[in-house]
Parts: sequence; C-alpha cells; structure tokens
Amino acid sequence: MPAISAEYLPMHNIRLSRERADALDELNASRPVKVIAVTGGKGGVGKTTISANLAVSMAAQGRDVMLLDADLGLANVDVILGLHTRYHMGHVIKGECSLEDAIVTGPHGLQIVPAASGMKHMANLSAAEHAGIIQAFSDLYHRVEVLVVDTAAGLNDSVTTFTQAAHHAIVVVCDEPASITDAYALIKVLSREHGVQRFQILANQTRRSGEGPDLFRKIARVCDRFLNVSLEFAGSVPFDDYLRRAVQRQTAVVDAYPASISSIALKNLASKADKWSVPEGARGHLEFFVERMVGTRIGPSTVLQ
Ligand SMILES: Nc1ncnc2c1ncn2[C@@H]1O[C@H](COP(=O)(O)OP(=O)(O)OP(=O)(O)O)[C@@H](O)[C@H]1O
Ligand SMILES: [Mg+2]
Repeated sequence: MPAISAEYLPMHNIRLSRERADALDELNASRPVKVIAVTGGKGGVGKTTISANLAVSMAAQGRDVMLLDADLGLANVDVILGLHTRYHMGHVIKGECSLEDAIVTGPHGLQIVPAASGMKHMANLSAAEHAGIIQAFSDLYHRVEVLVVDTAAGLNDSVTTFTQAAHHAIVVVCDEPASITDAYALIKVLSREHGVQRFQILANQTRRSGEGPDLFRKIARVCDRFLNVSLEFAGSVPFDDYLRRAVQRQTAVVDAYPASISSIALKNLASKADKWSVPEGARGHLEFFVERMVGTRIGPSTVLQ
C-alpha cells in the first residue's frame, strides 16, 4: 500500500470532518435543538432553581436535555444537583479538555456543562477562543433536543449574549419591587438593544393564588405602554419549603419531593416548554447556538480544521 503523503493527511481529515458534519446535519435536521434561557435581572429570584428543575423535568419526560450553567461568576447548578465536576467551560475554552470531558451526567441522563468560575464574558473572548468553543460544540456527539441555559443576575454582557442567542427567554420574577423593576429593565435592554421580542414571564415564590397572574399583568401593562414586545405568562411556582429541603439534599425538588406544590408547578412548566416551537429556519446544531452567542459566523475553514 502506498504511504500516505503528508499533503494527503489534511485533505483526508477534511473529508472525514465533512462526512461527520453531514451525518450530524442529517441527525439534527429533523429536530433542531430548542434553546431556552432562564433569566430575571435580579439576584436570588430563583433562576438556577427553575433552570435546574426545568431541565431535570424535561429529561424525566424523555427529552435529551443539556443544561448550560452560564452564571460565569459562581458555579451553581452542580451544587444544587450535588454533582462533582472536574472541568468546566473555562478549561474547554483554553483547550485544556474537550467539551465531552467537561460534561457531567445528572438525573435522567441530563447532561450538564458546568460554568467556569470567573470566566471572561463570552462577548470578550478572542477570535481563537470563539473558534475553539464553536469547534468544541460541533464536535459533540451527544444528541441534544433541548438546551436550558441558566444565566447570571444583573444586566451584564454575558446575560444579554446568552439570552439573545436562545429561542425562548424565561424571565423569572418575584412579587417584590426590585424584582419587577429589574425584570422590566432586562426586557427593555434585551428588546431595544438585542432584538429579543418575546418573553415568557414566570412568577416564582408566589404565596397566594392569583399572585402570579397579577404580577404578569403588572409587568405586561408597563411593557405594553413603553416597549414593543410580546409577553406570555409561563405560570407560577409557589414558595415551597420542600424546595429548600431539596436544595439541602442536593437533589432537584421534582425528584426529591415529586408531589410537592413546587414540583407540580415545575413539571407543568416543563410540559408547557416542551410544546414551545423552535422558530422556522432554526439550525439544528448546538454550534449554531454558540455561533449566535459569540456573534461569529463560522466559515468552512473554522468548521473543518
Ligand atoms: N419557589 C421557591 N420556594 C422556596 N424557595 C425558593 C423558591 N425558588 C427559589 N428558592 C430559594 O431561593 C434562593 C435563591 O434561588 P436561586 O439560587 O435559584 O436564585 P438565582 O436567581 O439563581 O440566584 P443568583 O442570582 O444568585 O444566581 C435559594 O435558596 C432557593 O432555594
Ligand atoms: Mg443562579
């Protein structure tokens, strides 16, 4: 057999990559990844609780779910779900491990990508880091139907970057003035500066029936008046001591206390989110989410390197 020449090797690799990319295309074309960002503006409203339990519930309902902890300040999801992580997105971006190495498996086969403590904002990564992260996601062999993204508090670049790249934005709100004003400020910035027009409002820690719809009406009234957005009410999750007990047990409340009032509400949210459609023309691969997130178009040279 003739020796494979040095010039042939890169071509050979390119062909393999192309075949692999085609296979992934076919695999994903029928069911694009649905990306749901969980955000809220104010700290401590329950973004991590909601995203972790939403992801666990959707996984329990049979979906292939990935949960991306995008709270770049503090890693959270792993603590809530009692997972031991070795690597995180920071290692992936620096090329110290593959995305596969960083992923940990949670309940019901849920795949979790841990956050990087103190990681630079996605918007501030270098071109090489962008290419690296897109490549990491495009190399991923896991099948993913739903990607849930837990964002940080505040209105920083990483929050807007992740949220604008998602198909659906859940805004978590509590019935406190600071939560309402922060949620409104977030919706305003996302709509005016980042082209996000549709929001799902989720009332959390509600203490009476009717509190969630009241809260929704309050926010909808001011948004209707000043912004060009469409809001939907995603439901209410009641304040529940069982949820706090579940956090102490480092287990999702939907698994630890499935009959509790918060679990029932969170499972309803998961069923609802399962019916949300992915907009027409949305591309299937996870790397397209990453591409939108980092604002880089990937050309053939990036994909096939
Ligand atoms: N429905 C609820 N009932 C009772 N406690 C809740 C509920 N939702 C959240 N909590 C509690 O509120 C606290 C804050 O929740 P969580 O960490 O999910 O908020 P967060 O918005 O992610 O915070 P951060 O902005 O710091 O990331 C936690 O102790 C959590 O257990
Ligand atoms: Mg959080």
